[in-house]
Amino acid sequence: MVRPRGVRIVEVGPRDGLQNEKQLVPTAIKLELISRLAACGLKTIEATAFVSPKWVPQMADSAELMRALERRDGVSYPVLVPNMKGFEAALAVGAQEIAVFGAASEAFSQKNINCSIAESLDRFRPVVAAAQTANVKVRGYVSCVLGCPYQGAVAPATVAEVAAALYDMGCYEISLGDTIGVGTPDATRAMIDAVTQRVPMARLAGHFHDTYGMAVANISAALETGVAVFDSSIAGLGGCPYAAGASGNVATEDVVWLMRGLGVETGVDLVALAQTGEWISHRIGRETGSKAGRALLAKR
Ligand code: HMG
Ligand code: MG
Repeated sequence: MVRPRGVRIVEVGPRDGLQNEKQLVPTAIKLELISRLAACGLKTIEATAFVSPKWVPQMADSAELMRALERRDGVSYPVLVPNMKGFEAALAVGAQEIAVFGAASEAFSQKNINCSIAESLDRFRPVVAAAQTANVKVRGYVSCVLGCPYQGAVAPATVAEVAAALYDMGCYEISLGDTIGVGTPDATRAMIDAVTQRVPMARLAGHFHDTYGMAVANISAALETGVAVFDSSIAGLGGCPYAAGASGNVATEDVVWLMRGLGVETGVDLVALAQTGEWISHRIGRETGSKAGRALLAKR
């Protein structure tokens, strides 16, 4: 057993959580959400995405949001960037960390970023090089690591190949995304085993969706293999616009509840987090997707 003593949580609610909302969420609400999340103790908050507004209208205010963002010391605010155009726009408004996003499925890569896996890697290479020159950190995502909504099964060897390509080009961390939440613990372990043949464990993050209710089980399995970074979304918001049927990301409240029970440090105030989950859910007119959040607030 190699369970880490502490984990870093990468809060993806303001980006991955909101990107699928049909109603445009006002920039002021997004900014308040980010500020509340930082006040809960989260140290990495994915703020927005510099993608085509035709593809993801909800992220069209990315430059405005980054210009208005009040940054706290010690908190990182990464933004998604698919190409040089996105990188230049992010750099112009002071982004200090970006994330490029590829996939382990050809079909998903085409639907999500309109190119093959190989083309996407060729597109990311100059972005990563330019980011390094500008002293901007780069995270790499691999989507569909446990299954694809278009092509079904995805081989762990393919996940390892794409993860290694992103790591070798200079991404400091590789986030492994179960985009449609079809994974189960044994499959999670097998996929991580394959990836760690090519990328050090300390450079991996788990990004689980709760579509089939398996996210916490998969996080538990990943944690026991040694993964110490997990992406999650406040109130379980989200889903990918190019992964039909993908429900929310795992809720940050549920992950923090799990870690607290296991005695694994997160540095996050769980009650403040539950209140933030309740607040944003109310603002966008839905019930919180976090079971832990709902239960904690019902007791108070
Ligand atoms: P394309 O249509 O092939 O791009 O899209 P293009 O280069 O041919 O350009 C077409 C138009 O887009 C042009 O404008 C460009 O200027 C513009 P026009 O001349 O037609 O007016 N354009 C841009 N505008 C703003 N920012 C940019 C940009 N680039 C081009 N960066 C592209 C290719 C990659 C741009 C498009 O497919 C895209 O934006 N895709 C993003 C899709 C997305 O954001 N998906 C959700 C995030 S991924 C995810 O959620 C999964 C993850 O969470 C992990 C997991 O859950 O597993 C990460
Ligand atoms: Mg996601």
